[in-house]
Amino acid sequence: MKTAEIRRQFLQFFTEREHALVPSSSLVPSDDPTLLFTNAGMVPFKNIFLGMVTPEQPRAVSCQRCVRAGGKHNDLENVGYTARHHTFFEMLGNFSFGDYFKREAIAFAWEFLTQVLNLPAEKLWVTVYEQDQEAERIWLEEMKIDPRRFSRCNEQDNFWSMGDMGPCGPCSEIFYDHGPEVAGGPPGSATADGDRYVEIWNLVFMQFNRNAQGQLTDLPKPSVDTGMGLERIAAVMQGVHSNYDIDIFQQLIQAVARIVGTDDLTNDSLKVIADHIRACSFLISDGVIPSNEGRGYVLRRIIRRAVRHGHKLGIERPFFADLVAPLIEQMGEAYPQLSAAQTYIEQTLAQEETQFATTLDQGLRILEQDIHSVKDSKMIHGDIVFKLYDTYGFPVDLTRDIARERGMLIDIAGFEEAMQRQRQRSQAASQFDTEYQAETVGDHVTEFTGYDTCEQDVQVVALYCNGASVTQLTAGEQGAVVLAHTPFYAQSGGQVGDQGILSYDQVVFEVSDTQKSAAAHMHVGQLRQGQLVVGDRVTAKVNEQVRQATMLNHSATHWLHAALRQI
Ligand code: ALA
Repeated sequence: MKTAEIRRQFLQFFTEREHALVPSSSLVPSDDPTLLFTNAGMVPFKNIFLGMVTPEQPRAVSCQRCVRAGGKHNDLENVGYTARHHTFFEMLGNFSFGDYFKREAIAFAWEFLTQVLNLPAEKLWVTVYEQDQEAERIWLEEMKIDPRRFSRCNEQDNFWSMGDMGPCGPCSEIFYDHGPEVAGGPPGSATADGDRYVEIWNLVFMQFNRNAQGQLTDLPKPSVDTGMGLERIAAVMQGVHSNYDIDIFQQLIQAVARIVGTDDLTNDSLKVIADHIRACSFLISDGVIPSNEGRGYVLRRIIRRAVRHGHKLGIERPFFADLVAPLIEQMGEAYPQLSAAQTYIEQTLAQEETQFATTLDQGLRILEQDIHSVKDSKMIHGDIVFKLYDTYGFPVDLTRDIARERGMLIDIAGFEEAMQRQRQRSQAASQFDTEYQAETVGDHVTEFTGYDTCEQDVQVVALYCNGASVTQLTAGEQGAVVLAHTPFYAQSGGQVGDQGILSYDQVVFEVSDTQKSAAAHMHVGQLRQGQLVVGDRVTAKVNEQVRQATMLNHSATHWLHAALRQI
């Protein structure tokens, strides 16, 4: 059964059972700062579970696009190492908002798997939360499943939470047994991590809300949230052991192989790239752009990881954006917004790839040298991890991934220390100049007049050179001037300081920046000619063109932020 057909059958099964068909929502959760990405089918329904929103219908079904690459649910580092993990996947789910509960949820799931998909019961395995006797009784006594294919699991495995906060509850999971030729033990056993028993469906009995302190309170109405990974059930239905062998992935992997120019379709890097092009394209079409923080940094990490795997496969030109078209061939029909954003996705990926390509080679060379030098300790130096991160744009998990391929670790404590030193350095630098600390400047107070005027005759009350208070500056010297009043705006509130001239007769002090130090405005710059002495009266004249441009820029930034927030 093709993946698209499974998706269709699932949605049909539940719509026939009075579930409202809800389209997939964005990967960027709306109005939920606690969550990086939509990581499960229930995310768009969070406020319904919490009783804050009343649903139009008490039952829903969806096929939700999900990303698990950051936050509580993060599978990024498993991609390429297991047959069943993805950064991006589709989750099929049926939901009850205070309508049916455990009995119906279990009966629906069993019926769909055994009657619609015709999976033999002896290939399935069920788990419940160890304290959930009700679910146990329903499975064993009402559904009469084989007790030899049943286990009770602890909180870590069978108590589901969307994040550190939010709706949660005990769950019951259904696994598919891929057979003894695949390594791995049954759920709850010590070797459960193998690929033999794969969780295909999780039935969560939503009962609680967890607050920021970790306390649980009852939800207004016991509800149901279920999730079945589409790629996993497709692997089962297509008789393959790896999600990467299902129809939609095979086409994509072939396209990757063609584009990077390899015949070896079993190479794990192809899987990583195929996984990552899905995550990146969908994230970009949902409005995420590569950046250095938050969601944008997760996207950047995924792109860079994919680019590095391309490099490993030997491709020397940018290739990642070329995969958008083959992806759209596979998924464009189910997700028309992907086709609509094709050019934008390609441009965004190409730009990020080109940027990283300039440092990738060099960074890899530095890493190779370090790997060579630390041979026996099997630990990449923290300083190198930091240098790669800071100068060569290698996210830490990228370096860790390369180390892992060599059976090595990275010195994360050393990395943190280097990072801390860097923070201290940049903090010092951002206090514009430690030379002009408040202690040095003392209690001079400058009155700012620049809202009304850009030019004023004022008195010099203090001068500084090389961090020390001086009585005069001579031509050529750099320093800072404190005035009793000034029309010069000192950097604050995100607007940079003014530039201009302080002058009288033949004396010209060029102000290149204005900064605050305690209550004084420091006019920083160089005395171009003459001699400037404390007590002199000067004409302080702001460069109005620069000020005007700075103000416009500053206002525009506010508007842009406001508009972005609204959107
Ligand atoms: N929300 C549940 C999960 O993601 C169904 O596993």
